Amino acid sequence: MANDVAVRIDELRRQLEYHNWRYYVLDDPVITDSEYDRMLRELQSLETAHPEYYSPDSPTQRVGGAVRSEFGTVVHRVPLFSLANAFSTDELLNFDRRVRELSGQSQVEYVVELKLDGLAVSLTYEQGRFSQGATRGDGTTGEDITANLRTVRPLPLVLREEARTVPPLIEVRGEVFMPKDAFLQLNTRREEAGEALFANPRNAAAGSLRQLNTKVTASRALDIFVYGLGAAEEVTISSHWELLRALKDWGFKVNPHIKLVQGIDAAVEYCLTWQEQRQELPYPIDGLVIKVNDLSLQRALGATAKSPRWAIAYKFPAEQAETTLKEIVVTVGRTGVLTPTAIFDPPVQLAGTTVSRAVLHNEDIIRVRDIRVGDVVKVEKAGDIIPEVIGPVPEQRTGREQLFVMPKSCPACGAQVVKLPGEVAFRCPNVSCPARLRESLLHFGSRGAMDIDGLGPAIIDQLMERELVRDVADLYFLQAEDIASLTRMGAKSAANLIASIEASKNRGLDRLLVALGIRYVGVTAAKALAFHFFDMERLMAATREELLAVPGIGDKIATSVQDFMVEERNQATIRRLKEAGINMTVTKSPVNGGGKLTDKTFVLTGKLTGFTRAQARSAIEEKGGKVTSSVSGSTDYVVAGESPGSKLQRAEALGIQVLTEREFEQLLAME
Ligand code: IVH
Repeated sequence: MANDVAVRIDELRRQLEYHNWRYYVLDDPVITDSEYDRMLRELQSLETAHPEYYSPDSPTQRVGGAVRSEFGTVVHRVPLFSLANAFSTDELLNFDRRVRELSGQSQVEYVVELKLDGLAVSLTYEQGRFSQGATRGDGTTGEDITANLRTVRPLPLVLREEARTVPPLIEVRGEVFMPKDAFLQLNTRREEAGEALFANPRNAAAGSLRQLNTKVTASRALDIFVYGLGAAEEVTISSHWELLRALKDWGFKVNPHIKLVQGIDAAVEYCLTWQEQRQELPYPIDGLVIKVNDLSLQRALGATAKSPRWAIAYKFPAEQAETTLKEIVVTVGRTGVLTPTAIFDPPVQLAGTTVSRAVLHNEDIIRVRDIRVGDVVKVEKAGDIIPEVIGPVPEQRTGREQLFVMPKSCPACGAQVVKLPGEVAFRCPNVSCPARLRESLLHFGSRGAMDIDGLGPAIIDQLMERELVRDVADLYFLQAEDIASLTRMGAKSAANLIASIEASKNRGLDRLLVALGIRYVGVTAAKALAFHFFDMERLMAATREELLAVPGIGDKIATSVQDFMVEERNQATIRRLKEAGINMTVTKSPVNGGGKLTDKTFVLTGKLTGFTRAQARSAIEEKGGKVTSSVSGSTDYVVAGESPGSKLQRAEALGIQVLTEREFEQLLAME
């Protein structure tokens, strides 16, 4: 029996690793997501039941979970060099001349690769298994981020041996990065949750990888391409091109835009082509890398103190433009934070878009960069996405430029602004501040929140001006006549808006929690809370311990939820929302709910602590599943609470997946 389990665990691990490779590395899956999930859950429950078969390179370990207080250090077996930079074609020609002189060759064969803009990592595989991962650090010593790297889906935990034997030890180098769309989505979620934004995809990748809680890393869409080898035993490879091929055979993700060229001219041409096309890539690059292909020539050329003589980075000229900073406007966000934004006149063309403004973040940045109103400034796109003011062009100063000072009072309501200890941001402390209300209303009606179609800024401004809304609950007491009387609103559009306000009443507790704009409560935390407590009243009554018991809810969120719930004004808003008939329980939502458990059959046994039977049943049914009373071959899951009965034994005998209450909650919370 035990042996059968071991065999099955081994088989599932191999299959899952194979399908992971097909999906993330080849981008060519051969099974459906739900088949994959089913196998993963089977493996999870076998591993839970048989902890003696724990393995760090099991696919179940990719979800993270380890939390540490600090990172250990790793001394690299072979130091990680950095690259010398070239900023012009001339510098590339000089590099080639040196290589030709030292090698005595008249034409050198090069490999040209994209230079990915992320974080360099070193990955050690012993006997084909991922055993250690580290940051570059200072090149000699890095940080041990093994547990975080395990959560990066395209990174193989076990190497493939089909096409090529795997050496006993290899240390592979690559770049972990965040694709552009994942970066934008992450920042949107952070904005919703009132968290600081990442300046560019590189910072987001580095911040995600260096998380002490690996669950956070697992939740970020990180990707990796590998491009080199450090220490290695028993590897007989004679060119870089062949090495890239071998890395691919072993299951690593190698960038498809690698090119083998004869001579520097072709290499330069390839660099210039990408300089034009870089915007089309779904991930950020900041240049290209040219490497000597022949490994024996690489060895002969050697390295200087910092970088190898056989490679050079061609760095793109930053996409930069100059314009006049006409004005710095200060806006007040939902949480009261004052944000200065530079307004340009004229707007400038940068990396394919017209840029008329750039967020300056806070007063410190403006002071450190010495940016003044009226300055001619250099504007750049950070990580190719977000416009940023780099600094002034001092030669262009006339003496009439004005220093910027953060207003002492809120530009919207006049309240005296405050700076909280340890924060760089200034805040308007007035909870009734019209600017805060405006942003709160916009957020409340936004897509991921209550999704009120037609509730745009123009309407909100008018509703506020006429004092028709003083808080979000007022939206639900608006009459069609009130709306029809607004500028550019006829009876028909008023009726439409009333209808979308009405429709929003049924978004369910998770969306309502997002909409309320509780600090740090974004989509993920809101779902976790909603599917744990099931209705607003229970959430409002939750103790700190109860909040902390919810998977994914830590100190920061628990404190924020409690601070929000004790506030008299917030309680009043929730009461009025309830009066207006807003659904404050978990429900199926047209956008992201429902369907996940379609046709899945559940059997409940034992006592659940977080749900009544009726609540568990309705949560399953809302997601398209059904609950039956007896376990049979067609049962998909048995949820086992405290002191489960014979149904559990029967499930085990039939090999049906058994979920603990916690696993059941996680299943419900899944997108
Ligand atoms: S090769 C000795 N190849 O650029 C060779 N590096 O400025 C070392 N990078 O630390 C690196 N894409 O983080 C190489 N295709 C690529 C790269 C690449 C990005 C990064 C890497 C390295 C930095 C050097």
